[in-house]
Amino acid sequence: MIDTFGRSITYLRVSVTDLCNLRCRYCMPEDGVCKKEHADMLTEDELIQAVEAAAALGITKLRITGGEPLVKKNIVSICRRASRVPGIREVCLTTNGILLPELARPLKEAGVSRLNLSLDTLDPQKYAHITRNGSLDDFWKGFHAALDADFQKIKLNAVLIGGFNDDEILPLAELTRKYPVDVRFIEMMPMCDSSGFGPEAYIPFTRVLEALPEAVPAAKDGGIAKLFHLPCALGNIGLISPVSAHFCGECNRIRLTADGKVKPCLHSNAEYPLKGLDFDGMKAQLEAAILGKPQWHGNLDAAHKSGAGRNMNQIGG
Ligand code: GTP
Ligand code: 5AD
Ligand code: SF4
Repeated sequence: MIDTFGRSITYLRVSVTDLCNLRCRYCMPEDGVCKKEHADMLTEDELIQAVEAAAALGITKLRITGGEPLVKKNIVSICRRASRVPGIREVCLTTNGILLPELARPLKEAGVSRLNLSLDTLDPQKYAHITRNGSLDDFWKGFHAALDADFQKIKLNAVLIGGFNDDEILPLAELTRKYPVDVRFIEMMPMCDSSGFGPEAYIPFTRVLEALPEAVPAAKDGGIAKLFHLPCALGNIGLISPVSAHFCGECNRIRLTADGKVKPCLHSNAEYPLKGLDFDGMKAQLEAAILGKPQWHGNLDAAHKSGAGRNMNQIGG
């Protein structure tokens, strides 16, 4: 379906839970989240019905997100059923990777073709700090399980944080020389509770290019990242710049939260509830959300927080 600004909306990001087995400082508050009432969340059948309604409106790509999608007990079943919905050509998933040793193969068999994994640092102590106690060793076990399961594509996501990992741009980028993966650097977006970060933490993607003088531009892959390539690398370097150079003009996405709200934009507080609706009701709400999609997300920086009214774990990025 085409939105009011001529954008073709083909990509639905589905957050299946706001819970997570980590607590990344830019994503969720230290105490985690108040567990929502079970009755407020979409059931698996409702979620699949929402995907069917979205597919009827022209959605062809799904990205399953969280929180951490792999902590959801029925994640494999959700992926299997979603990938069989007529019209859905691709099911992708974004994860912190910790549970991949058990789940990489079942997810691949359930129809997930691409994985994006979060990795902000190569230093175990810094990893434990930014994730509030995560184990980098566990991440690497998950990463290798993903490589072994032979996904069509694996991308690593590093959120850029001034004073934390801006000295690791080169070693993170060099993972593309060692493994057949893309490494993407993401400008940190100021969500409602991502406090504790001063203005110096928000650094622009241009800093990445300064640290990688050998990087040459590469062709885009249809995603939101500007792509570059290091000599002799197996994968690309991606730069995702929602803050300093937003990509809203090419946005093809809408989002569904675990509590069944369609969000037309990551940073808008407009929400269209689906809980309890039948197929036609869900389709009408999805259509209204697409028509209500704003032209862009408005200023975002240390002084202008996201208008989303939720933290990242409650939207899925
Ligand atoms: P593919 O293009 O399918 O690989 O996925 P992706 O890069 O959109 O997904 P991923 O979940 O890996 O997100 C990477 C980063 O992009 C995260 O920081 C997201 O919050 C951010 N992001 C994803 N979609 C949007 C969007 O529509 N707007 C903005 N501002 N940021 C987004
Ligand atoms: N700004 C930018 N990216 C973020 N992510 C989580 N919170 C933020 C934020 N405040 C990223 C995670 C994950 C993806 C879904 O979103 O690192 O890779
Ligand atoms: Fe969990 Fe991902 Fe948020 Fe980190 S960024 S707390 S891994 S949902």
